Amino acid sequence: MTDYEEIGARIDSLIAGIDDEVARMATVVCELHHSVERFHWTGFYRVTAPGMLTVGPYQGGHGCLSIPFSRGVCGAAARTRETQVVEDVDAFPGHIACASSTRSEIVVPVFRADGAVMAVLDIDSDDPAAFDAKDAQALEAICARVFSGYSETRSN
Ligand code: SME
Repeated sequence: MTDYEEIGARIDSLIAGIDDEVARMATVVCELHHSVERFHWTGFYRVTAPGMLTVGPYQGGHGCLSIPFSRGVCGAAARTRETQVVEDVDAFPGHIACASSTRSEIVVPVFRADGAVMAVLDIDSDDPAAFDAKDAQALEAICARVFSGYSETRSN
């Protein structure tokens, strides 16, 4: 059982007083990736132009650098504004494989204070069906707590 409450508390403590969006993303990714064994790639894709995602802080092997909203699991999360829980990436039409070892994936849209999608949190696993509704709910809650205060991109 993943202790998301403990992970969330560590993230809250680490980012206390830090307003910079990239620093917060890097901290969330690092804590999640190194706390959960089944997370084999953990990272953010930021909305950098209308309909376009660009890679942000991540942990794991090289991730593709840009993804249009029309492609992949990340694009689906950004386009639909809904978390994508993919038990078998080979069964997801248009899945973008950054690693041939990936078997399952979860992608969570990240919302700004005004409700716009500012990024997606993408987690890949080499284990089949590694994610469920509990992961979705916990990751959505962490992202809401860490990023929903942003009215626009802010850096120190
Ligand atoms: N699998 C994602 C692409 C990002 S790499 O996994 C890091 C997708 O289909 O959008």
